[in-house]
Amino acid sequence: MSTTDALVQAAQSRRTIYKLGKNSPVADSKIEELVNAAILNVPSSFNTQSTRLVVLLREEHDNLWDITIETFKGLVATGAVPEEVFQKQTLPKLQGFKAAYGTILFYEDPAHIKPFQEKFATYKAHFEPWAEHSNAMHQYFLWTGLETLGFGANLQHYNPLIDAPVAQKWNIPTEWRLISQLVFGSPEAAAGEKAQKPIEERVKIFGKQ
Ligand SMILES: Cc1cc2nc3c(=O)[nH]c(=O)nc-3n(C[C@H](O)[C@H](O)[C@H](O)COP(=O)(O)O)c2cc1C
Repeated sequence: MSTTDALVQAAQSRRTIYKLGKNSPVADSKIEELVNAAILNVPSSFNTQSTRLVVLLREEHDNLWDITIETFKGLVATGAVPEEVFQKQTLPKLQGFKAAYGTILFYEDPAHIKPFQEKFATYKAHFEPWAEHSNAMHQYFLWTGLETLGFGANLQHYNPLIDAPVAQKWNIPTEWRLISQLVFGSPEAAAGEKAQKPIEERVKIFGKQ
């Protein structure tokens, strides 16, 4: 298979899988190698390298989702989230994430964005969105890469609700901004059907021979 075919196949195989289990198909060192490959090879605007990755495996992963459950219990106590919604929807969903093997937390470190905003004033307003773009590239690389290792994954956004307790638990700098959480584990069910809008509406190509 050509490298391009392998890349396309990996892209096609990356799907959202919610039913995940704790049977890892690889040694944890393979996950670490993949995460390091992301941090070394994913580009960033002006080479800012402002993305930060935190990998939580096994019981540390469980701790993350327990923290999220506790955070929601606090919201139920204040009345911000109705008890019934929590019991019927939120809790089963969060327990589903906890049933997986690991979570990668994607952060942005503003300390590595601000100096560029000051140095390149013309682009000041662009550095934040560019940082988000680069962060998303890390997410996509790892979502796809974990699939090639045999995992299934889904992408979540419990930030900024969980930022403070997570920073406290793992001693993460409080300035770092949590962007997303990639949950991964052994795929225990297939991905759902995915409707596609017509390619012709979404791609224009000019000058093709
Ligand atoms: C930027 C982005 C944000 C997303 N946020 C969430 C999310 O918060 N929760 C969730 O369950 N899925 C989330 N998803 C997953 C999408 O719903 C999913 O990728 C889309 O329906 C296509 O399905 P597929 O991933 O199987 O190809 C997100 C995906 C992207 C690209």
